[in-house]
Amino acid sequence: MRKTIIAGNWKMNKTHKEAAETLKKLAELVIDRENLGGVEVIIGAPFTALESAVRATENTPIAIAAENMNANESGAFTGEISATMLKELGVEYVILGHSERRAMYGETDAIVNAKVLAALKAGLKPILCIGEQLEDRETGKTNEVNGTQLKGGLSGVSVEDMKNVIVAYEPVWAIGTGVTATPEMAEETHAFVRSVLVELYGNDVAEEVTIQYGGSMKPENAKELLAQKNIDGGLVGGAALDAEVFYGIIAAGK
Ligand code: G3H
Repeated sequence: MRKTIIAGNWKMNKTHKEAAETLKKLAELVIDRENLGGVEVIIGAPFTALESAVRATENTPIAIAAENMNANESGAFTGEISATMLKELGVEYVILGHSERRAMYGETDAIVNAKVLAALKAGLKPILCIGEQLEDRETGKTNEVNGTQLKGGLSGVSVEDMKNVIVAYEPVWAIGTGVTATPEMAEETHAFVRSVLVELYGNDVAEEVTIQYGGSMKPENAKELLAQKNIDGGLVGGAALDAEVFYGIIAAGK
């Protein structure tokens, strides 16, 4: 049985005080693991809010993710943050290869792959983001692009480590635009992504990997998306900023 995991990605939003306030509200809504009906909840917060986010979610079922990290262990990398620094803070997950980082900060599959391997080595669980641009979809390159990003990001990841990896499929044209992929369209690509995982790791391992959908997910469309066979959760941007709205998506996954 694979897990349903709903993750928020706050991006560059919320000071550490705002983060603590939102997480206090979210924790009140989530109440306990039983109330979540098996759904796991993660919040990705900016570096400066991670410590207060970890503190605010102690003894709650909410786990905390960083939104990026450097692949190196330590050294002369001004302004960067290592996996060990995150791990020691109590962070459990790290979002890697988000399309915004690929587009704005030049992250290639090789860079993303180095981060995935470094995260796993340090005991952090990567949420590996992949997704095609509108132009790719319009020119029939959706599977090619997603397959390349997935294989590139997972290069050298062992079968054993795959139990700690989440894949997030985010069609770039659906991010922050209000345009969601239809459930059928998303399912088609999710099924393709799982077929690549079967190719790489075999059926048993591929069946256990959580594949999240991301791109304008909201309480109104979450249920239908999450009902699809190969959609096992969400990576939620805008709709994760407000605790009640985000809880609406969590409730849709129960
Ligand atoms: O990581 C989250 C995605 O970029 C989705 O963002 O829900 O605001 O479209 P969005």
